[in-house]
Amino acid sequence: MNRFPTVRPRRLRRREAMRRMVAETRLDPSQLVLPMFVVAGEAVERPIPSMPGHAQMSVDVAVEVAADAAARGTGGVILFGIPEHKDDVGSSAWDPEGPVPRALRAMAEQVPGLVRWADVCLCEYTSHGHCGPLRGDTVDNDRTLPLLAQAAVAYAEAGADIVAPSDMMDGRVTALRAGLDAAGHEDIAICSYAVKYASAYYGPFRDAAESAPAFGDRRSYQMDPPNLREARREARLDLDEGADMLMVKPAGPYQDVIAEVRRLSDVPVAAYQVSGEFSMIEAAAERGWIDRERVLIESLTGITRAGADVILTYFALDAAALLQEV
Ligand code: PBG
Ligand code: ZN
Repeated sequence: MNRFPTVRPRRLRRREAMRRMVAETRLDPSQLVLPMFVVAGEAVERPIPSMPGHAQMSVDVAVEVAADAAARGTGGVILFGIPEHKDDVGSSAWDPEGPVPRALRAMAEQVPGLVRWADVCLCEYTSHGHCGPLRGDTVDNDRTLPLLAQAAVAYAEAGADIVAPSDMMDGRVTALRAGLDAAGHEDIAICSYAVKYASAYYGPFRDAAESAPAFGDRRSYQMDPPNLREARREARLDLDEGADMLMVKPAGPYQDVIAEVRRLSDVPVAAYQVSGEFSMIEAAAERGWIDRERVLIESLTGITRAGADVILTYFALDAAALLQEV
């Protein structure tokens, strides 16, 4: 009875309108967040060769892109700063006149409807490119915590709605929450990069953010790719510390991890489709080997199907435009 020829799954795939009707996963522009790289100066738009269509931008240019992101109904922008001065502790990260606070203030004023995210990490700001001050040849966890909190407070003060620590120090959600609350920012949300792997997919980003480590790598603080139980542990710890959202990163190659974090958490789950995932699609499309638009939507659909509520993606603007067309 419940088999061929009575049962024919193809009956519901016959027409586009029917396929849309029974779609189990729906993508919406409001789920997509655009990462942006902000620099000092004016009218600066410096293309990033390994990330076609993306550029380091001064605040005035960044505000225009942010207005576009708002007009297309996205879930906002996440800002990364490239400072003029780097030092061994990354002190430009909490400079209220640094690129990120300046951009946040300008966006709050000129694009008030936009959700404003600020990435919190020190690797763009340290002279050695690691995610916090060093002790020996690795990052000093406990000395990094108050500095991250100070940066988060500076971004909250400038108008960030969500701060997103990406450093992978232990205890940073507790430190950020305490710092934000002490400064009167108890309403500012924390989206923790709870599960962030030491991934080779970050290559193009490190060109974009000028944040490649001067020596060694990040394997003593970011997670080891083979581990899934450890991902659950990291996610639970950050929930206990008060994270309002959890992020998994990268996204595409870690969809099992996204599904697992979705199952264990009652907060929204974000996934970061990182620079390498983006650039691989762009490179293959440029050679005519894949259909760019279909692959970019399919890649985002897969990440959503795995369980992500929100996706940080360099395709945010193009994907939002494509989704509005259908
Ligand atoms: C900084 C940070 C990185 C990314 C986001 N925040 C790079 C890294 O950890 O080396 C990667 C994002 C991307 O590749 O798009 N901590
Ligand atoms: Zn970092």
